[in-house]
Amino acid sequence: MCAEVALNDAVSSPLTARRGGALTGSVRVPGDKSISHRALIFGALTVGETRISGLLEGDDVLNTGAAMRALGALVERTGEGAWRVNGVGVGGFRQPQGVLDFGNSGTGCRLVMGAVAGCPITATFDGDASLRKRPMQRILDPVSRVGARVISASEGGRLPLTLAGARDPIPIIYRTPVPSAQIKSAVLLAGLAAPGETIVIESEASRDHTERLLTHFGATVMVTPEGEHGRRIAVHGEPELAPVPVVVPADPSSAAFPMVAALLVPGSEIILSNVMANPLRTGLITTLREMGADIEAVTIRSDVGEEMADFRIRTSALRGLDVPAARAPAMIDEYPVLAIAAAFAEGTTRMRGLKELRVKESDRLAATADMLRVNGVTAEIEGDDLIVHGCGTASGGGLVATHMDHRIAMSALVMGLASERPVKVDDAAIIATSFPGFPALMRSLGADLS
Ligand code: S3P
Repeated sequence: MCAEVALNDAVSSPLTARRGGALTGSVRVPGDKSISHRALIFGALTVGETRISGLLEGDDVLNTGAAMRALGALVERTGEGAWRVNGVGVGGFRQPQGVLDFGNSGTGCRLVMGAVAGCPITATFDGDASLRKRPMQRILDPVSRVGARVISASEGGRLPLTLAGARDPIPIIYRTPVPSAQIKSAVLLAGLAAPGETIVIESEASRDHTERLLTHFGATVMVTPEGEHGRRIAVHGEPELAPVPVVVPADPSSAAFPMVAALLVPGSEIILSNVMANPLRTGLITTLREMGADIEAVTIRSDVGEEMADFRIRTSALRGLDVPAARAPAMIDEYPVLAIAAAFAEGTTRMRGLKELRVKESDRLAATADMLRVNGVTAEIEGDDLIVHGCGTASGGGLVATHMDHRIAMSALVMGLASERPVKVDDAAIIATSFPGFPALMRSLGADLS
């Protein structure tokens, strides 16, 4: 099943990963992207000075910082990962002068749309070629009910688009059409500016950083179970958010790459420290353990309302398995790298219910399957499921098209560290959106990337 393929020619900003010695050492990956965006946005909605440490200084988050500045907040870097934000208060954004450019980031763009929707200002949102393809109607629908108006938008409600926020925002009850923390957060942020209670109901629980961090800033947020896997989240509008320090834990979605690399490269043992271990983000660890991975949580603690752990990872023989659709929200960003683990496992892995992967930074379902196939791994897409036939090894030797998707780029490079022949990605520059320093961190563990 594992066919041979040829190494293609390089194109722009390529990077190649080769099989080498064991990976060893202890590292801390950069700060969590979800919390970093939220720390800047919530800081901007707070009167007074919010101090943030461990902020992810990736392009996505820096664009959100620039947007907060354009909307009237004072956002200043005071050291490595150390930032301070002087906010304008809930509903206090000022009219921005230029276009708000979110680059590659769906999270930054959608959350800020929600926050703008509750303010009496007009703002134009734009992004790169990848973000311009992504659906924004899922945000425009609920914020229109809050009272915001779409002044102009590209076909299908896409970027660039101009939104006029509500003069008198209305508290709504909104059932999210897909499990999405971005939709939920946009509605809750719009609702902050409305009087009374805004309620979001989700049938599958998505990451709850907005709920936790808003509570940390002093908002009243009530979360109750809804159905088998869902939640009902109610936020009291017009709170006075109080500045509190935010310590951003390491990003589990970034930790996923060295984690899987250490599982696959023979003789490896690494420690990943201070990784956020919120149960709505640890689906990958659960799945890898079920596949036979040796991942040990060495110490566990809690800060800013989030659990954190140091993980020790040792090379493990993995076996394929069936990953239930209900787990998707807790590992939505981790499927490309799980697919790499599945390729090196013995047996078939079926990952169910991946519809949302089609609207990520790329059509991630197709890009993941292509990444595997070009490296000699047999993979199929059946409906919304990805099926990977693992045979304990992969030939590698492929050139992977990243399609402006950082997670495809990093997953492909992890593959190259364990495959028989090198794996090359066409554009490694996009990695800086979420994981600046990825090649250096991997090299510090012993990876051959050049
Ligand atoms: C995020 C939510 C997820 C995830 C993204 C970050 C967030 O997107 O894919 O990387 O910080 O809220 P969806 O909410 O669209 O699933």
